[in-house]
Amino acid sequence: MRAFFQRIRDSVFRVGWPADERKALLAMRSSFLLHLHAPKVRPASLRLAATWGLGLLSLFLYGSLVLTGVYLMFYYIPHPDAAWRSMGDLEFVVPYGVVTRNLHRWGAHAMVAIVLLHLGRVYLTGGYKAPREANWVAGVGLAVLTLGLSFTGYLLPWDQLAFWAVTVGSKMVASVPVIGDAAALLLLGDQTVGEAALLRFYVLHCVVLPVALTGIVAFHLYRVRKDGGLVTSEHAPEPTEGPRLWPAWPHLIYRELALLAGMVALLLAASMLFNAPLEPLADPTRTPNPAKAPWYFLGIQELAHYSAFWGGVFIPAAAIGALIVLPYLDRRTAGLGRYWPPERRWANSVFLFFAAFFMVVTVVGTFFRGPAWALMWWPP
Ligand code: HEM
Repeated sequence: MRAFFQRIRDSVFRVGWPADERKALLAMRSSFLLHLHAPKVRPASLRLAATWGLGLLSLFLYGSLVLTGVYLMFYYIPHPDAAWRSMGDLEFVVPYGVVTRNLHRWGAHAMVAIVLLHLGRVYLTGGYKAPREANWVAGVGLAVLTLGLSFTGYLLPWDQLAFWAVTVGSKMVASVPVIGDAAALLLLGDQTVGEAALLRFYVLHCVVLPVALTGIVAFHLYRVRKDGGLVTSEHAPEPTEGPRLWPAWPHLIYRELALLAGMVALLLAASMLFNAPLEPLADPTRTPNPAKAPWYFLGIQELAHYSAFWGGVFIPAAAIGALIVLPYLDRRTAGLGRYWPPERRWANSVFLFFAAFFMVVTVVGTFFRGPAWALMWWPP
C-alpha cells in the first residue's frame, strides 16, 4: 500500500525533497511553479530592494482574489433585487462568508496599491528599456486591467457606495468627446446604472477581465525570464567574493515564502479586524453629497472637477499613452538597475513629480472635499 502511494507522490513530485544542491537544481527545472525562476540566480536578485517583492505580491494577491472570488460567486446573485441581500447573507448564513468577503475586498485594494508601486519600482530602475519594452507595455495593460477589475467589482454589492461611485465613474466616461456617450451606453447597457449595468459589470468582473489578466500575466512572467531576469540584478556589479550564481532553492524561494507569509498574516489580520463596509441598499433617488468615485479614481475626479474633459479624460489618457510610448523614445542605457543614478535623475524626477502630484490630488479628493465638492479643511 505504501509503495502505491509513493508511486502517486513520485508521479507528481519527481525529484523529491530538494535536500542537496543537485536535487535543488533538478526541482527548479521540473516543478511547474518553481520553473518560473532560473535554477541559479545572481546574488543581487536576493536583495529585498531588488524588487521589494512587489511583482510576487501582485501575483499572490491576484491568485487569492481568484480563490476568494470563486467562493463568493457561489452565493452572489447579480440582480438589483437580490445582490445586496446576498451580500448581507454572507454575514449570517455562509460559512466564513464575512472573512472571505473581507479578504476579497482588502486584497483588491492592496492589489491596486501594490501593482502601482511595482510600476513605480520598474520605472525608477529603468526596467522599461530594451530588451524589456514589450513587457513594460504588457505591464501597463495589467495596471489598466487591475483598475478595471477593481472598478467593476465595486458595483456588485449594490449598496449606496457602489451605486454612486459607479455612477460618478460612468459620468466621467460619458464626458469623453465624440465617443463618450456611446462608450457609457456600452458599459452600462442603459442610460443609467441599473439591472443591465449590474449584469455587464458582473460578467466583466468574473470572466472577461480575469481571463485577459491571466493571459497577460502568463506572457509577463515568461518575458521576465526571457529578457534576462531583473534589471536590478542584471546591472548589479559582479560579487568580488563568493559564488557568481546561487541556487534559487533555498536562497530565493525561502525569501519569497517569508514575504508571502508576511502578506498572508497582514491580510488575515486586516480581514478579521475590519469588516468591508456595506451601506444601505442602492437608492437611485437619494444622491449622497458628495458622490465619490473609488479612491484610486478620486485624483481623476478631483481634476475632472476643474475640467471634465482635461482632468477626467485628457490627462489620464495622455498618462497611459506616455507610459506606452516611453520605452520606444527613451533609449539611453546608462544608470539602469539603480534607484537614483545620476544618469536618470531627470527622468526619475519627472516621474516622481507626477506621482506626487497625483497623490496630492487623490488625498484632496478623498479627505478634503465635502458637499457640492467644496473644499473642507478638516476631513468629515
Ligand atoms: C497583475 C499585475 C502584475 C504582476 C502579477 C506582475 C508580476 C511581475 C513579477 C513577478 C515580476 C518579477 C519580480 C519583480 O519585478 O517584482 C515582474 C517584473 C516586471 N514587471 Fe510586472 N507585474 C504586474 C504588473 C506590472 C506593471 C503594471 C508593470 C509596468 C507598467 C510591470 C512591468 C514589469 C517589468 C518591465 C518587469 C521586469 C522588471 C525588471 O527586469 O526589473 N508589471 N512583474
